[in-house]
Amino acid sequence: MIVNPLRDPRDRRLPRVPDPCALVVFGITGDLARKKLLPAVYDLANRGLLPTNFALLGFARRDWGDTDFAELARDAARKAARTPWREEVWERLAGSVRFVQGSFDDDNAFDELAGALADLESSHGIGGNAAFYLSIPPSMFPVVLKQMERTGMAESTRDRWRRVVVEKPFGHDLTSSRELNELVDSVFSAEDVFRIDHYLGKETVQNLMALRFANTLFEPIWNGHHVDSVQITMAEDVGIGGRAGFYEKTGAARDVLQNHLLQLLALTAMEEPVEFSAEEIRTEKLKVLRAVSLPDDLRAAAIRGQYEQGWLAGQRADGYRQEEGVDPASKTETYAAVRLGVETRRWAGVPFYLRTGKRLPRRVTEIALVFKRAPHLPFADTDTEELGNNQLVVRVQPDEGVTLKFGSKVPGSVMEVRDVSMDFLYGEQFTEASPEAYERLLLDVLLGDATLFPRNAEVEASWAVIDPLEEFWASTTPYPYRAGEWGPRAADEMLAAEGRRWRRP
Ligand code: BG6
Repeated sequence: MIVNPLRDPRDRRLPRVPDPCALVVFGITGDLARKKLLPAVYDLANRGLLPTNFALLGFARRDWGDTDFAELARDAARKAARTPWREEVWERLAGSVRFVQGSFDDDNAFDELAGALADLESSHGIGGNAAFYLSIPPSMFPVVLKQMERTGMAESTRDRWRRVVVEKPFGHDLTSSRELNELVDSVFSAEDVFRIDHYLGKETVQNLMALRFANTLFEPIWNGHHVDSVQITMAEDVGIGGRAGFYEKTGAARDVLQNHLLQLLALTAMEEPVEFSAEEIRTEKLKVLRAVSLPDDLRAAAIRGQYEQGWLAGQRADGYRQEEGVDPASKTETYAAVRLGVETRRWAGVPFYLRTGKRLPRRVTEIALVFKRAPHLPFADTDTEELGNNQLVVRVQPDEGVTLKFGSKVPGSVMEVRDVSMDFLYGEQFTEASPEAYERLLLDVLLGDATLFPRNAEVEASWAVIDPLEEFWASTTPYPYRAGEWGPRAADEMLAAEGRRWRRP
């Protein structure tokens, strides 16, 4: 990392620029690479955050040369870049773009890849450092990892680092995730493994820690004495797009509940870390994940649904079973809602309601702390009948910010009290737009900063929550809901039975 010697090296406000290095992407022609990774590489270059000596290598089966790959990369970056397009930035990057053609079981191709890395060392001074991004189906991990081991590519030494980036889903259940972890750990050392959960790269998710631990206002009420319940929502208006093959085998719980939502829960419920470092933050999150409990009777606390044909933003939307590539009798869930507990002194007795779904009315992710009602109100019942619970809502996306909902007097001659809200909007307070999650996380991989990456024990603790749910759901059929509705009625009934209701963000 290049640091200005005149400034305190611990000053994290300084732009952090990684060592000279190469980024090798397996699965370069896939959706993730085109829509997220390549644009993120360009945006980092455009912001001056890549080292001068940087190389990008693509590995895929296509019969391409460096120029074909550079063209694909340029198109992809241009289409989805967050920052303005500057041809000269791309031109500089394009000079160090390489493509290696081959299949994963082809020894020659991996020898060639190792050779390309060695060549880049002499031609582009990458210093032997490389990060390997596995943007490929997990079933391909074993063969690719073995190839890296065979060719010695996975080996970090005193003079160079080698890192691997693994995309979710990290396995299919606890057993398979253990196997996967063992496999990755047998080839790379633990500190060189980066498991990406892109929600942790979102600015607002990181702001949750700032909100809690940089202020005095919130922490005293951030517990079961004051909080009635917590609602964590990740709603999407989109369907499954062209991903039927993946989604049919996965479903909403494995796709996002196991990772994004449980990570949000962990950050919401964790204790203050001793310091803002990977080790300490991961330790606190892990404690929460290990303390998560499921109710004994899952029938009333674990609801899953599947969208049927409906309407969204004035457009007719197909049902899940009519989507291309989906079994017409599919029982895969596209919606999941669960009530979890966190068995710690801070949270005992506070329900954490988590829900996620596709084809819901709008795209919104938020964490809402719903506070207990005042134990006594000195007003007549009729004056406060429209008053809800106080709420603190962290809006992860869109309209990133924080909202505080509380009661206020309605202007007039009577003492009527109604809910109002106070808003903090990122877009209004800061002029700089938030970086994309992948921009932040890629940069962190190259810097070797693992703060925003879950540790394998967290992944396993999360599967330990999901496995019993999946087992219970295996013998059930998801409740139907119409595309454009807020999920199945059973999910509303789950909260109503406990005297609560879902927020309608
Ligand atoms: C991915 C899931 O991890 O997150 C997708 O696999 C989902 O199903 C996506 O659509 C949502 O990400 P974001 O950043 O758009 O909220």
